[in-house]
Amino acid sequence: MPVPLLDLKAQHALIKNDVVAELLRVVDDQAFILGPAVERLERAVAELSGTTHAIGCASGTDALLLAFRALDIGRGDEVITTPFTFFATAGTIHNVGATPVFADIEPETFNLDPALAAAAVTARTKAVVPVDLFGQMAEIERFAERMPGIPIVEDAAQSIGASRTIAGRQVMAGEGATIGTLSFFPTKNLGGYGDGGMMVTQDDAVATRLRRLRVHGGAREYFHDEVGYNSRLDTVQAAVLLAKLPHLEGWSRTRREHARFYDEALAQVPGIRPPVVRPENVSIFNQYTIRAERRDELAAHLKKKGIGTKVYYPLPLHLQPCFAYLGLKQGSYPESERAAAEVISLPIYPELTQPQLDETVAAIRSFYGR
Ligand SMILES: Cc1ncc(COP(=O)(O)O)c(C=O)c1O
Repeated sequence: MPVPLLDLKAQHALIKNDVVAELLRVVDDQAFILGPAVERLERAVAELSGTTHAIGCASGTDALLLAFRALDIGRGDEVITTPFTFFATAGTIHNVGATPVFADIEPETFNLDPALAAAAVTARTKAVVPVDLFGQMAEIERFAERMPGIPIVEDAAQSIGASRTIAGRQVMAGEGATIGTLSFFPTKNLGGYGDGGMMVTQDDAVATRLRRLRVHGGAREYFHDEVGYNSRLDTVQAAVLLAKLPHLEGWSRTRREHARFYDEALAQVPGIRPPVVRPENVSIFNQYTIRAERRDELAAHLKKKGIGTKVYYPLPLHLQPCFAYLGLKQGSYPESERAAAEVISLPIYPELTQPQLDETVAAIRSFYGR
C-alpha cells in the first residue's frame, strides 16, 4: 500500500463541496483583488492568532519581505536568524538589502537558540527571526528577554494555530512577536490552491504600514508614500482558505495523534530519535521529523517500499552557494549541520490510515532489524 508524504486529494474529497461553494461566491461577486473573502479570512486568522491585525499578502515569503520593510530594515542592517530553515527566511533578509546573521539551533527542537541569537547582536542588529520549525513554536519570550528592544519577526509559516504556555498563558504562534508571518503554501496545515501568506501584529502603526506596502506603498490609490509591492492575497485563495479554516484545529489534532503513535512505535528502534516537543508547546506537526542513523539509506529503503519521505533541509543556509559572500565555513553552526545530515520527515497528514501508519513503522523497523 503506497504511503505518500502528503495526499491532498484525500483532504479534497472531504471538503470539496465547501470549497466549491466559497469559490462560486467569488466568481459571482467578480471581486478578485482584495474581495470580501480576504477581509473575512483576515478577521478569522487574527482571532485564531490572538492578534489585533492580520494582513493578507501573496506568500509567506512576501510576508517576511513586507515585515522587514515595515520595520525599516535595509542596507547596512543585520538580521539574526537560524541557518536551519526554509530558504525564504534568509533570502528575504538579503532581498531587502540587509545581512543575514546566523545563530545556531537548539538541537532538540531544531529552533533558533535564544542565547546564541543574543550573543550575535551588534550595533547593526535590527531584528531577530525565530522560525517555528515543523509546527513547534520557538521560545519566543526568551528572545524578548535576552534581546530587549530588538523587534521579533516570528516566521510562523509552518505553525499556524500552534501555541506555547508562557507565564501560565497560552500564546498563539505570531501573537507574541512584533510581526508574525504565515504561509498558505499548499503543503501547510492550512494550505491554499496556490501561493498565499499573511502577517499578524498587535501594533496599529505596523499594520497600517503593512497594508500600504502590499499595494505599492500607497494608502490612497495612485498616491505613493513609499515604493511598495504588488502583494495581495488572492480572493480566490482566501475563499479556499475560508472553507478549510473550520477544519484546521481538527486536522492539527489528528496530526498530533499520529505523532504520538509514531513516538511510541519508534521509541525502541535503535538508530531513531523521535522529535522532541517541549511540555509548554502544542505543536501542529506540519512535519514529523526524526533523526535517523544512515538517513539516506533509510530514505532509499522507504522509497522502495512506496513510503514518501523528505529531508527538510539538506543544506543549512550558511553553506548555500548564494551566501558564500558571508564567508561562513563548514563547522560554523555544528548543530544545524548535524541536523541537516540526520533529519528525515515522515508522512503525518491527517487522512493517513492506521494501516498506512503501521506500514511506515514496520518499514522503519525492518530497516534497523527490529
Ligand atoms: C519556514 C518558512 N518560511 C517561509 C516560507 C515561505 O512561504 P511561501 O512558500 O508561502 O512563500 C516557508 C514555506 O514555504 C517556510 O516553511
